[in-house]
Amino acid sequence: MKRDVIIACDFASAEATYAFLDRFTEEKPFVKIGMELYYAEGPTIVREIRRRGHSVFLDLKLHDIPNTVEKAMRVLSRLDVQMVNLHAAGTKAMMESALRGLTREDGTRPILLAVTQLTSTSEERMHDELLISGSIADCVCHYAAMAKEAGLDGVVCSPLEAGMVKERCGQSFLTVTPGIRFADGNNGDQVRITTPARAKAIGSDFIVVGRPITAAADPVAAYRTCVSDFC
Ligand code: C5P
Repeated sequence: MKRDVIIACDFASAEATYAFLDRFTEEKPFVKIGMELYYAEGPTIVREIRRRGHSVFLDLKLHDIPNTVEKAMRVLSRLDVQMVNLHAAGTKAMMESALRGLTREDGTRPILLAVTQLTSTSEERMHDELLISGSIADCVCHYAAMAKEAGLDGVVCSPLEAGMVKERCGQSFLTVTPGIRFADGNNGDQVRITTPARAKAIGSDFIVVGRPITAAADPVAAYRTCVSDFC
């Protein structure tokens, strides 16, 4: 898969999502469906967005005991999506089970990514609240290495960490990076952030962009700026 911009469609309903996607008359952006939309609309929204011709990253960030995650992934494997994910913090055993569950009988499966540390988590909170010592970079690289050992295809991390992950896990190990903001933008709740151009320079394979596109006065123009800066 080549470098691409994924739009985080964090909308509350199918109507709001379709109204947003209908604005794109010339391109079919790669779309991320997260918890809000999936919990509101269920698998129907995934099928409809696929039917409209978009690639889909189903961002449900599974994290439970290995047996439960394996069975949940088996259900998700019936959806024709391009990417799904889970939390690396669920352990290597959970990631291995997830991979088993996600692999269809014919051997095909969506790309499976592990979330390392959310881009809204600061190093201070990781130390004080999660009781993980060391740097965020060390934690992200360690989780990425575990994900690779478990057989996953890549990680979700900050664009600032994409270079380190590639160094540790190899160039073909995917880095999918939220925490993208335009230089003049509002950071919202995101902490470990950078611009589309800088994310490209550091080595992200995919950037995930939500509010800088969805809340822009002209979302199509904002998307095109991301594509021209990143792709
Ligand atoms: O609006 P914004 O650009 O901050 O959206 C980023 C998206 O990426 C959100 O949908 C969020 O759930 C997701 N995400 C993230 N950090 C991660 C994994 C996913 O921000 N580590």
